[in-house]
Amino acid sequence: MKRSLMVQPAAALHGDITVPGDKSISHRAVLLGALGDGQFTVKNWLSAGDTEASLQAVQDLGIPVERPSPTTLILTGGMFQPPDHPLNLRNTGTGLRLLAGILAAQPFESILDGSSQLRQRPMGRIIDPLRRMGAEISGMDGYAPLHIKPAALRGIDYTLPVASAQVKSAILLAGLFAQGETILRQNYPSRDHTERMLQAMGANLTQQNGIIHLQPGNPLKNQDISIPGDLSAAAFPLAAALIVPDSDITLHGVNLNPTRTGLLDVLTRMGANLTITKTGTQAGEPVGRIHAQTSELHGIEIGGAMIPRLIDEIPILMVIALHAEGQTLVRDAAELRVKESDRLSVMTAQLHRLGASITETPEGFRLVGKQHLTGAVVDSHEDHRVAMSLAIAGLVATGETVVRNSPCIGDSFPDFVSQMKSLGAPIRTHTW
Ligand code: S3P
Repeated sequence: MKRSLMVQPAAALHGDITVPGDKSISHRAVLLGALGDGQFTVKNWLSAGDTEASLQAVQDLGIPVERPSPTTLILTGGMFQPPDHPLNLRNTGTGLRLLAGILAAQPFESILDGSSQLRQRPMGRIIDPLRRMGAEISGMDGYAPLHIKPAALRGIDYTLPVASAQVKSAILLAGLFAQGETILRQNYPSRDHTERMLQAMGANLTQQNGIIHLQPGNPLKNQDISIPGDLSAAAFPLAAALIVPDSDITLHGVNLNPTRTGLLDVLTRMGANLTITKTGTQAGEPVGRIHAQTSELHGIEIGGAMIPRLIDEIPILMVIALHAEGQTLVRDAAELRVKESDRLSVMTAQLHRLGASITETPEGFRLVGKQHLTGAVVDSHEDHRVAMSLAIAGLVATGETVVRNSPCIGDSFPDFVSQMKSLGAPIRTHTW
């Protein structure tokens, strides 16, 4: 069975939506919760392909999970059992890399594997530091499947070569079980959900000037959490509202963690009509409301420390930039090449099919707006953020846009089509 999105030009988008729970925090709720002591409830958990893979993995490790609803979990952490088969993390890099850090410290053997897509993503970035900590971990030339054997770990003083929250988290989770302190140094801060959650659970973790210190030994205690909405999902309706004429939408309950809000800062600098209102704190993270209206945008240059703060939003930023007056230049974003697809090359090629003119560079792209898009057949390359970015591009193209291979959207935002429709976007699913 194949599925595509059929997208028509949109007239105006209006309405209020609450986006699903944050994907990064949903992974961490089950993976870190599995390590904590006692039963706890997770509300507004994201039920999507990636997070379900992490949940299945902790269940395969013997962690009991009750499920009163798809978005509510009752989990009892504390004790792992050796898995009797390789753990299948499907498409999730976050799930596999965080779990590698946890399993490197367990007294049993395990194998971590995933889809053919996940098998193409670099694992040397976690294998190397975990080995320096004493872990017995090997991959197939630096790729999954990963084979982990029991080993005694020692703390590490490590400078992260890439600004990756997955690598940082894998090391911290291994560091919980190591002998001695773990110190992590980072040039640019990446998302800090692991640090926040570990601190809330009672870990002895401190941060100063971008340097993280973790002293193992404190017991981790579970507590109930309610997961804030995912800004990385909100980015798609938000982008649509900015570029579709006569639009006015409000997004509720969105995570506004400053390590994640790069897109909001960049859009504000581009002249976007955005009102961001902080409404409270949820799961130790700031949350709020975003009101977005159609905007006259201008191009922007970004790079350096901004990139990790909007790494997952760069594909949709490319679409927005096509509707901004003047040049947009993105630098220092080579990490996009090792996501679910090579997002720099895939987005450039697919937007070319819609008639866009974009220059791909080794570490980013350059384009000059405003540009006119014409509907065409494009392909997601099985990458959820590419699929959704292309669907939003279709809303401002003339004629019909067909986004092939769209089921991957379910990896992070299964309700994308219904939520966009509720705002008035003419997007439908075609199955054959
Ligand atoms: C994530 C970290 C980022 C991000 C990914 C989720 C996480 O990856 O792109 O979607 O939850 O830790 P990197 O750590 O590889 O930058």
